[in-house]
Amino acid sequence: MSSPHNALLPPDVSGRFGLPASRIWLNAAHQGALPRIAAEQARRAIEWKLDPARMTPERFAAVPLDLKKALGTLLGVPAEEIILTNGASYGVHLLANGLPLRSGDEVIVMDGDFPSNVLPWLGLREQGVVVRVLRPADEVLSAGEIEQALTPRTRGVCVSWVHSFSGRRLDISAIGSLCRERGAWLAVNATQILGARPLDVASEPVDAVVAAGWKWLCGPYGTGLAWLREPLRRTLRYNQAYWLASQTQASLGLERPEIVIPEPGEARRYDVFATANFFNFVPFRASVELLLEIGLEPVRCHIDTLVARLISGLDTARLRLVSREDPGERTSLVVVSHRDPARNPELYGRLSSAGIHVALRRGRIRVSPHLYNTADQIDRVVSVLRDEP
Ligand SMILES: Cc1ncc(COP(=O)(O)O)c(C=O)c1O
Repeated sequence: MSSPHNALLPPDVSGRFGLPASRIWLNAAHQGALPRIAAEQARRAIEWKLDPARMTPERFAAVPLDLKKALGTLLGVPAEEIILTNGASYGVHLLANGLPLRSGDEVIVMDGDFPSNVLPWLGLREQGVVVRVLRPADEVLSAGEIEQALTPRTRGVCVSWVHSFSGRRLDISAIGSLCRERGAWLAVNATQILGARPLDVASEPVDAVVAAGWKWLCGPYGTGLAWLREPLRRTLRYNQAYWLASQTQASLGLERPEIVIPEPGEARRYDVFATANFFNFVPFRASVELLLEIGLEPVRCHIDTLVARLISGLDTARLRLVSREDPGERTSLVVVSHRDPARNPELYGRLSSAGIHVALRRGRIRVSPHLYNTADQIDRVVSVLRDEP
């Protein structure tokens, strides 16, 4: 069957990535492919380092600022509210180590969530903070389960927006509204959704968003972002005073440079060190700008079409869909399991042998198509999954 082209995407979209024709990469939930334009920009940054005179003070200043502009547009928040990080874990640690939590205060996390959302809080138990690891009845926590668990001592909830291991989306609007009613904050890890569909985080009832940049945002490994809504950001008490957040490269030449320490509420105070991080942040910006240029709505639409094709091709007599079937609840992660789960590694092996790269996560098969994948590639997956000996 030939690939019907998604009219909303540019006709040459796969060609804008460097994926080899001999392989099918359907694992954006692990690593999104780097666009060619980002690779070109990375080479440009390497040229600057080959001839360090080109690493000008202007470039030191512009690299983080331009990246923040792109990420601010992506999230629908002002650029100066973006915190540059090297992954999702950085942002969760910033919250866990910086928010004013006292002995007896409670934080709710989800059992089975991606470890980045759970581990940074567990260390607070030594200080008497009660970290409640709630077990969901069905893959991810419902708003009702969180409602039951909230107490007057609950300070906040930290969960994924889309769960890496089941592909299920949490009802962030409902959970956030509940948290607001009860005076608790909601921190969300958007790694598995940001870049796969449009998000207007400012209009959602969330207080903090963290994400890694190397999955749906197609950036290099070691990139990421955090955003904290202003009232929460103002409560952060985290001793960080990186010199490049307070002055510039150029100011080093001055006899008495002015040092302006950012206020605790200012996002730039919490940027990861080496904010100009040329080799990573220059291509990261190019990746994000490419997504913005193409548009997140066309990207969502393309992914949804591929996901629908995959789901409708599954032999449900043998395979069980772990992620949601209902079109309104689908995400860009399709998780399936053989009805005899012991056979999942064998299924995964057959896909690998056919040159199809998916993920085996928590013993199940995860397929995660992005804008560079095609309907033909999905048909190959369907045919290998059906072709059971
Ligand atoms: C939800 C989620 N958060 C975080 C990460 C990784 O980011 P980090 O290594 O910064 O925790 C992943 C995937 O690796 C993920 O799926």
